[in-house]
Amino acid sequence: MQSLKEARDQDPYGFFAERLAAGPVHWDEGMNAWIVVGYDECREVQRREDVFKHPYFELNGAADVYGGPRGVLLLQGEQHHAVHGMLLKHFSPRTVNGYRTEFIADLVSRRLDALGERTRFDLATEYANIIPSDVIAAMLGLDWRDEQTMADCRTWNIAMFRWTETFGEDDSAFAEAKAAAENLNRVLLPVIRARKDSQADDLISLLWRQGPGVIEPWGEAEVLAQARVLFFAGTDTTSHFLKNAIYVLLEHPELQDRLRGDERAVADFGEEVLRYLAPVQFRVRVATRDVEVAGQLIREGDRVHPVNGAANRDPKHYPNPDVVDVERRGIKDHVAFNVGPRYCVGAALSRGEELEVIAQLLDRYENLRWDTDAEPARYRGYMPRSFSPLNVVADRRAGRP
Ligand code: HEM
Repeated sequence: MQSLKEARDQDPYGFFAERLAAGPVHWDEGMNAWIVVGYDECREVQRREDVFKHPYFELNGAADVYGGPRGVLLLQGEQHHAVHGMLLKHFSPRTVNGYRTEFIADLVSRRLDALGERTRFDLATEYANIIPSDVIAAMLGLDWRDEQTMADCRTWNIAMFRWTETFGEDDSAFAEAKAAAENLNRVLLPVIRARKDSQADDLISLLWRQGPGVIEPWGEAEVLAQARVLFFAGTDTTSHFLKNAIYVLLEHPELQDRLRGDERAVADFGEEVLRYLAPVQFRVRVATRDVEVAGQLIREGDRVHPVNGAANRDPKHYPNPDVVDVERRGIKDHVAFNVGPRYCVGAALSRGEELEVIAQLLDRYENLRWDTDAEPARYRGYMPRSFSPLNVVADRRAGRP
């Protein structure tokens, strides 16, 4: 592989290791952009939004795709800071803990119940792919029991990610993403309108209540834009994380007994999976002025990709970066969720989902192993990516539902 551009459906980690050995920052001809693979440098680029701006707001068609110009992804400066802060406060580890007991645990059990008495299944399509959309839909106050609409929403959110990967430069991806966005608006708007005057115990009601004063004006457009971004950013990403976690559990079967019944160990395992297989592999920035990073002169207007997937394997920061080590020191200091002003709003939520998904899976089953008669797992995708399918055979644990 010569360029990050060629990474779709290919394992990029050999390429990352080569680049890392040659230095932290490189011009990537195929991407027509800089790739920043070093851990420290990646953090620096993400922290300094004054020098490396987040360019979504100026991408052709972004407002159509992301639910309007007032969503947290497209806002800039003070307005971004205010909305980002409001959302982060809501998705705190404490709030997420409450959600776990209120409904996440039940939503996860329900998907395991649906596997019935079978001991062979694809844990990607029947489990990891569907739980994050159940969770966000339930939080937003959508009808998560409507399987068809939920399946459609997942497809539409993925179409938006496809467009995101093209940085606004692919017309057919844009047409699909725009149609998907309109469909998502049709699902969300009736709920948003209903909650305006008659509030309930859900996130859309909370957005109506807490938004005014954070940025002005605050109305339907602002509520829709945040709801759309949360739905989009919180579904596919977390599915990739959960699939990677299950994949690593299957590749390292010795971890299964070790993690069972130990929430702290399941949490550390989740962090190591986020480091080892970053679900969102890289991001995009644009230099606002000439700037030097690790001795490379980046010119004003150049595109810059902080490559989280590579930074998480930087040997200068992580001893034995290609080894899964659930006892690693500083296990949470990976950049899978970014750092700085664009730190992921849903980090705690996806961590909470991982805890339930892995703990409950191990509580019900043991000796999870690959189903060698079925299609093997492959590392698929590009910017967001994971292993699928996850065809496994498992033994039910005695006395479990
Ligand atoms: C394992 C799962 C997830 C991963 C790996 C992930 C990763 C990321 C990354 C790398 C960014 C930075 C984007 C950028 O630099 O442009 C980000 C931003 C964001 N994430 Fe996540 N995310 C995950 C789950 C979630 C969930 C569950 C939610 C929602 C509940 C969410 C909501 C957001 C939002 C709203 C932003 C935009 C922040 C901003 O622009 O200020 N994410 N995420």
